[in-house]
Amino acid sequence: MNVTKAELIITAGNKEQFPQSQVKEVAFAGKYNVGKSSLINGLLNRKALARTSSQPGKTQTINFYNVQDTINFVDLPGYGYAKVSKTQRESWGKLIEGYLSDRNTLEQVVLLVDIRHAPSENDKIMYDWIAHYHKNVIVVATKADKIKRSQLNKHLSIIRKDLNLQPADKIIAFSATTKQGKDEIWNLLHEVIENDEQK
Ligand code: GTP
Ligand code: MG
Repeated sequence: MNVTKAELIITAGNKEQFPQSQVKEVAFAGKYNVGKSSLINGLLNRKALARTSSQPGKTQTINFYNVQDTINFVDLPGYGYAKVSKTQRESWGKLIEGYLSDRNTLEQVVLLVDIRHAPSENDKIMYDWIAHYHKNVIVVATKADKIKRSQLNKHLSIIRKDLNLQPADKIIAFSATTKQGKDEIWNLLHEVIENDEQK
C-alpha cells in the first residue's frame, strides 16, 4: 500500500474508548520492548507516529491508528515487564482481553517475538489466546539485524516449534533498522484488506 495518510485515532485506556469504526483492524501484540511501535512506524514509513522507547512498558494503552481510511493498526501494550504492579498487570489483562474477545472488526493479529530468544511463557499464552478467539495470526520475529543471516532459519524454526505454530501460520523475520521483511508483511496484510473488499 502506498501509505500517504496515517494518523492516531485514539489512545484508549478502557473499552468505552475503543473507536466505533467498522474498518478492519490489524493488532500488534508482544512483550514490552519487542518492537511493536517500531514495526508500525516501519510499515507506515513514519519515524515516530507510534511512540517508541528504550524505556520498557512505554505503551500502557491501546493505540488506534487510521491507515489510509482503509484499515486500522492497533498498538497493544507490551506484556511481561516484571516491575509493574499486580494491579497494573491485571488491568492490562482486562484491557487486552476486552479487546480480543469482542472486537468483530479485528481481522488479524501480528504477534511479535524477539528473533534472538526462545519465546517466553507469556508469548505462548498470547498465541493460545489469539487462537482461542479464532483470530488469524502472523508471527513477526523482530530485531533480525541483531543476528547473522546464516542463523536466521535456525532461530525461526525454534520460535515456530516453541510456540507450536500450525503449519499454515506465517512467520517472518523483520528489522526496523534495515526494513528487512517489510514487503513480505505488507503482502500478507494486503490479503486482509482485499478479503474485506470482496465481502
Ligand atoms: P512497549 O511499547 O514498551 O511495549 O515496546 P515496543 O514493543 O513498542 O518496542 P519499541 O518499538 O518501542 O522498541 C523498543 C526498543 O527496541 C527501541 O529502542 C527500538 O529502537 C528498538 N528496536 C525496535 N525494533 C528494532 C529492530 O528491528 N532492530 C533493532 N536493532 N532495534 C529495534
Ligand atoms: Mg510501544
